[in-house]
Amino acid sequence: MTPKTYPYLHLPHYDFCIPALGYGTYFSPRSGREGNDGSVKRSVLTALKAGYRHIDTAALYECEEEVGEALREWFDMGGRREEVFVTTKFWNQNHSPLDVLASLTESLARLQLDYVDLYLMHWPISFNPTPLPASLDAPTFDTYDPALYHTRPIATLPNGKPSLNRDLSYNHISTWEAMEELYRRGLCRNIGVSNFTVKGLMEVCEYAEVKPVVNQVELHPYLPQPELLQFCKERDIILCAYSPLGSQTVEKEERVIADPVVRGIAEKRGCTEAQVLLSWAILHRGTVALPMSSDEGRIRGNSVVVELTEEEYGAIDGIEKRKRFVNFDEEWGVREAFGHGIFEYQ
Ligand SMILES: NC(=O)c1ccc[n+]([C@@H]2O[C@H](COP(=O)([O-])OP(=O)(O)OC[C@H]3O[C@@H](n4cnc5c(N)ncnc54)[C@H](OP(=O)(O)O)[C@@H]3O)[C@@H](O)[C@H]2O)c1
Repeated sequence: MTPKTYPYLHLPHYDFCIPALGYGTYFSPRSGREGNDGSVKRSVLTALKAGYRHIDTAALYECEEEVGEALREWFDMGGRREEVFVTTKFWNQNHSPLDVLASLTESLARLQLDYVDLYLMHWPISFNPTPLPASLDAPTFDTYDPALYHTRPIATLPNGKPSLNRDLSYNHISTWEAMEELYRRGLCRNIGVSNFTVKGLMEVCEYAEVKPVVNQVELHPYLPQPELLQFCKERDIILCAYSPLGSQTVEKEERVIADPVVRGIAEKRGCTEAQVLLSWAILHRGTVALPMSSDEGRIRGNSVVVELTEEEYGAIDGIEKRKRFVNFDEEWGVREAFGHGIFEYQ
């Protein structure tokens, strides 16, 4: 029988569960959102009322205040903190231990929360921040004062590309240790990574005292990443699918949602293409999925569970087209970011 709501995924070695359906809060310029115009707040509230219990955000998305306002309103209506799983991430210029701490402190203030359920390293690639003001003595992790020390913008090169920090891009030990310290201090209940390959995960697993519980990556039928899925299952790392509908950054007709196999199943079933894709991601593959929509009806519709037959799941597995939609190589002046070797273009 088809379940009414999507399941929670449990990690056998950890005492926590993560709701398999999460609401994604990245609103690209295509969404029509302008500044803090309230659209993310409205959408998060719609999602919470529709039964989503997992909200995915990030410092980069510049919407944590709105997420915080929506959560506050939902708590005021009777929602409880422990019922909702909140993820945030630190951006690439904040990989140094102090900035990992400062970024989470700033995120928590914007979210109006004491802790997040999951704190992620957004990318394995690290940029340099702009220099510290000369007047400020560099604090340590223990002398950090949020009133005095703030995260800084990205330092850019004369060609406009971000200035890479090669040491912290190739070696994540100090960044991970800082995340472990935040976990021990109770500022985040779990720690994990995003945009990591099998090789990158193996490295972290080697030195981690607190293991990464999640790897959040682009996943959909055009980018199913079966080796990564298998590796994560073997290591009890939950794989979270971002852009599960094929991303908002490309033209509608290019999206996975417009794929003929997906369309055919949706038509036959009388459901939406998004429901087909989310069923495949969550019920068939055992991943978390983080769909975004700026439309109230679609937010609600995406939470409706549709169970497909093995034959239908098999037909989606059989889609041969391959496409990665999220790729910053050009913008960042790097290549092979996903191969985990970061080589600057000359
Ligand atoms: N860790 C990372 O590096 C990373 C990178 C990218 C994304 N993410 C996370 O993953 C989330 C989702 O990814 P995404 O936003 O790139 O893409 P997505 O969820 O795959 O696709 C979103 C797009 O699909 C449309 N859509 C949603 N429901 C639909 C439906 N039922 N029918 C037709 N169209 C529908 C939305 O348009 P409407 O708004 O018009 O409905 C939007 O344009 C993000 O919001 C973010 O939280 C993380």
